[in-house]
Amino acid sequence: MRNSLLSIFLIIGMMSWNSCYYDSKEALLEDAGGCDTSAVSFSNEINPVIVSKCNSCHGGASPSAGISTEGYTNIQTLVNNGKLWGSVNHLSGYSAMPQGGSKLESCYLQKLNAWITAGAPNN
Ligand code: HEC
Repeated sequence: MRNSLLSIFLIIGMMSWNSCYYDSKEALLEDAGGCDTSAVSFSNEINPVIVSKCNSCHGGASPSAGISTEGYTNIQTLVNNGKLWGSVNHLSGYSAMPQGGSKLESCYLQKLNAWITAGAPNN
């Protein structure tokens, strides 16, 4: 009896120690993999990856599939019709992008989600 009471206290103690630990700001940031999704900027964070991973096919005068990913207005169109999110997340019903390349980094996809949720501002 005394031993089981002791273990219960030990378990409760460990649980509350853990919750304190995870409440700290550093731990929460670590949990998110160090991915900062606050105040995501189109020009500094969203567009540069599209320029390097998409515009080689979807830029210029005759972009692949007639879809241009060059510049805010074209990207905004793809946000609004759901094709940007669907293709880079490899959702069913969309062609997986970037074609022939590996899926974009998970932190980038989290930032993209936050930016789209914020109304895809031209910031
Ligand atoms: C190597 C060339 C290439 C690259 C790089 C590429 N695409 Fe594509 N993309 C294509 C081709 C070809 C199609 C049309 C054929 C298809 O749907 O598979 C297409 C189709 C699409 C579509 C239409 C999908 C649909 O289901 O209607 C979107 C949106 C798109 N690409 C976005 C992107 C984005 C965003 C990137 C960068 C992350 C990217 N693509 C990178 C060649 C490319």
